[in-house]
Amino acid sequence: MNSGVQQQKESFENIYTHSKNWEHWDSKDPLTRYLLDRRLQIGVDHLMERTNSSPADWDVLVLCGGVGGEGTVLANMGFRSVTVSDISENALQVCKVRDPRLKTQVLNGEKLEVADGSYDLVLVQDGLHHLPRPVLGLTEMLRVAKKAAIVIEPHAGIVANLLGTVWEDHGGTVNYVFRWNELLLEQATRSYLLQSPCYVKALRLWNHNIVMSRFAKKLWNKQAGLQAVKLSYLLLDLLFGKVGNMMIGVVIKNP
Ligand SMILES: C[S@@+](CC[C@H](N)C(=O)[O-])C[C@H]1O[C@@H](n2cnc3c(N)ncnc32)[C@H](O)[C@@H]1O
Repeated sequence: MNSGVQQQKESFENIYTHSKNWEHWDSKDPLTRYLLDRRLQIGVDHLMERTNSSPADWDVLVLCGGVGGEGTVLANMGFRSVTVSDISENALQVCKVRDPRLKTQVLNGEKLEVADGSYDLVLVQDGLHHLPRPVLGLTEMLRVAKKAAIVIEPHAGIVANLLGTVWEDHGGTVNYVFRWNELLLEQATRSYLLQSPCYVKALRLWNHNIVMSRFAKKLWNKQAGLQAVKLSYLLLDLLFGKVGNMMIGVVIKNP
């Protein structure tokens, strides 16, 4: 195992043993739900529209899935089966208890011990930038995906360069915040898939849930907070989406 991967594993095993703060993933509060579900919903809606299908026809593997928050969102959307993977065994222990609908498997995102084309969809959210070799993580996703991959990761750009976090520190282990764009996604995908047909799209949008959540709490009631956040994201994406800080990459094999 690459030493960077080993360090991430040790840090996250420790974090998942000591932190018990995962209830937000199971929250029924409409604002929390909106903030947590939004990016996954946009990616999945785009995929379902492009493939003219419904989640019930798809088996999904989630990479770097932690305690299974994204897995729960996908299971709630009606995916046929959802497997959550992570390098941390402790995370997956929490996942199993949190949501017994989810299958779990310990996997290193850089070297998935899974056969080619094992899952219809392979998805990652806020995970590839924890790998020392994020592009290798992507090509592993493409190898294991039978039909499609969704990659929800930071987007490169001027604002991110000026204001974005460069280095993250989780429990003393540092990772570089690798930022994507459509050209990078397209080139990494086509280099790997060669001449087999594929659809590659990088949706670009704004995502700043901590700021939005603080803003919502300043308003007079929860309903007003939720509506204000929805409107803010709508306006941000409409007016400034082209410089957004987040990528929802969708790759469809043999479209
Ligand atoms: C910031 S957390 C995000 C977890 C989850 N996506 C979420 O939003 O709750 C990053 C996750 O990546 C996992 N991770 C780090 N390196 C990994 C690797 N090489 N393979 C698989 N998972 C890894 C960590 O254990 C951690 O759960």
